Amino acid sequence: MTSLFRPLARGVISRHLNCMHVNTLILGAGAAGLHCAAFSGPNTLVVDHAKAPAEKIRISGGGRCNFTNLGTTPTNFISQNPHFAKSALARYTQWDFIDLVDRHGIAWHEKTLGQLFCDTSAKDIIAMLLAEIAPTADLWLQTEVGTIRHDGTHFHVALKRLGQVTLVQADNLVVATGGKSIPKMGATGLAYEIAEQFGLAVTDTRPALVPFTFSDDRFKPIAGTATPARLITADGATFDESLLFTHRGLSGPAVLQASSYWQMGEDVRVALAPDFDITAALKTQRAQDGRKALTTALAVHLPARLVDFLGGELDLTGNVGDLADARIADLAASLQNWSLKPSGTEGYRTAEVTVGGVNTNELSSKTMQSKATPHLYFIGEAVDVTGWLGGYNFQWAWSSGYAAGMAI
Ligand code: FDA
Repeated sequence: MTSLFRPLARGVISRHLNCMHVNTLILGAGAAGLHCAAFSGPNTLVVDHAKAPAEKIRISGGGRCNFTNLGTTPTNFISQNPHFAKSALARYTQWDFIDLVDRHGIAWHEKTLGQLFCDTSAKDIIAMLLAEIAPTADLWLQTEVGTIRHDGTHFHVALKRLGQVTLVQADNLVVATGGKSIPKMGATGLAYEIAEQFGLAVTDTRPALVPFTFSDDRFKPIAGTATPARLITADGATFDESLLFTHRGLSGPAVLQASSYWQMGEDVRVALAPDFDITAALKTQRAQDGRKALTTALAVHLPARLVDFLGGELDLTGNVGDLADARIADLAASLQNWSLKPSGTEGYRTAEVTVGGVNTNELSSKTMQSKATPHLYFIGEAVDVTGWLGGYNFQWAWSSGYAAGMAI
């Protein structure tokens, strides 16, 4: 007999094997898996290897969960097929999720840029999802997923819980085990392995919404300094948000956003003080108070620590009155077109999401069902659909989970 459960000693299986049947087996009790279970109907079993469900919801948004974005549109998502997310996002929108949150009496607020957060705690969202699934689904935690077999009609999945192996026969199998981001929190590549087992292509994956690193510690002297900036990636993606200098490189919302579009070896362009016409500002200062030090004049628009630091790179000595027009134009160009080449990113250790995943060509955009294997579904971050920073990734989890749940 071949082992049903790879990590398990063979002899144990025959002594403790239980069998059961469910309509729907959902692998992964994260955002997508739990939301799917709320719609997948009776006799649903959700399993997860973690001790608690939805750990990423719990820590998200600084503990308050940025659960959606008012401005969600398909353009806020990255995928090899930019049209794929349209159907699911249209059928379960940000307004649908807000309605659910309201029905559970969870108070929320908009922080910035359409980003909605719980007033009290992300745990409210988890409690809401658990309440939603309670009538129709069981939840097994600390459950390891073993071998998966399909006999043409049913899926047979070996699960190990509390030292016992159960062979679950399921009519529908939903893979909601997420991407590779933050292995310490339980992320694994299980979804990609299952996709490969069933012959579904998986696109290249890489960490995203992640800080940039630089091989030298050039930004160490200004670590902790934040400033508004515009980041522009090699393919023209542009983000106006805050930039944070760190001991290892660059972080902050603008950088995290740009990282999702960045490929190893590429430059990113940074515009500091993007909302100021530096040329006009320096010319005005020159006319009004030419004796003012250039560093003082720039510190009106940029953090003083950053101006000091840039002084070493751009020669910011002298007074504004000494500046010729050409020098002002050079300075403005340097400050608003600063080209930087990250040596890498902090990787999956800190990345909020994974770009790439199960190739959307393999799935129905309406149901998330595999085109080749009926009743096999992939949802959430496991799929090659990645949202921007700002609540879009959870919205994808809700929308794709709903699409699969309703199709079952
Ligand atoms: P998710 O990762 O949530 O769930 C997958 C589940 O599968 C997990 O419970 C895991 O334990 C389980 N699993 C994995 N491998 C398994 C295996 N081999 N066997 C059994 N179970 C397995 N997004 C957003 O929109 N707003 C926000 O505020 C934030 N904030 C945020 C902060 C941080 C620190 C991170 C890391 C991420 C965010 N995100 C976010 C992103 C968001 O958390 C993410 O996109 C969703 O959780 C994805 O939902 P899924 O259900 O697809 O995967």
